Amino acid sequence: MKYQITIMPDEHSFDEAAALRIVEQIKSKPHSVIGLSTGRTTGNMHRLVAQMWQQTRFDASRTTFFGLDEVVGVPREYAGACYTMLRTEMLDAMNVDEEHFLMLPTESDDFPAACQHFTDELEQRGGIDLLILGLGENGHLGFNQPGTPFGSSAWVTDMNIELEERIRRETATPADKWLGGVTLGIRDIMHARHIVLVAKGKNKTDIVRSMLLGPVTTDLPASILQLHPSCEFLLDADASSKL
Ligand code: GLP
Repeated sequence: MKYQITIMPDEHSFDEAAALRIVEQIKSKPHSVIGLSTGRTTGNMHRLVAQMWQQTRFDASRTTFFGLDEVVGVPREYAGACYTMLRTEMLDAMNVDEEHFLMLPTESDDFPAACQHFTDELEQRGGIDLLILGLGENGHLGFNQPGTPFGSSAWVTDMNIELEERIRRETATPADKWLGGVTLGIRDIMHARHIVLVAKGKNKTDIVRSMLLGPVTTDLPASILQLHPSCEFLLDADASSKL
């Protein structure tokens, strides 16, 4: 088996271990390219990274950070846009400038060109060294929902209905305006040199089990990670309780 499973006993030790994965990557290779994911799982981890940076001021000035995905159809200043979440949770506190923070756009006249530009930029900076991935309750990665081809590259897609409804409500976006997501594709994700998938909480117990012990199938996008040459599954006791 090529992958590694790490189980932390409680939420705090989980958050801390996850934060250390990022800090250690920056320290061992200051010009790393590091991908981040938003959501409930990663918020504390991001805040801890910022705290650790403020305590010891390790050199993060050459690191490129980027977001795995972004909401389409809202201003990027909206509190639920991944750009703003990553800035407020972590990057602002570390003085990361725009040159070192790459995001897919929330609005564009030409998303295919924007996606190409984004993946080209990641390549030019040396490719993804570390990618932190959250896990959807249905097994999605980024906005790659069940059914997404494993060969997909960065693309614009629909959002799951629960998230769409929440964002529509919070941003007062009218019903006739399309809301979606733009995300790295599964193929882009699999090209990362090292991946850490993070999952915590009882709501992830079943999907964690299927992801790790079930077949590799596009019905469960995260199952492809079983085949990645260097992937760590970092879990808490709840998320791992059915393994
Ligand atoms: C959203 C994001 C994903 C994230 C996932 C898990 O769908 N687009 O990037 O990984 O949610 O979120 P949570 O950690 O809140 O369960």
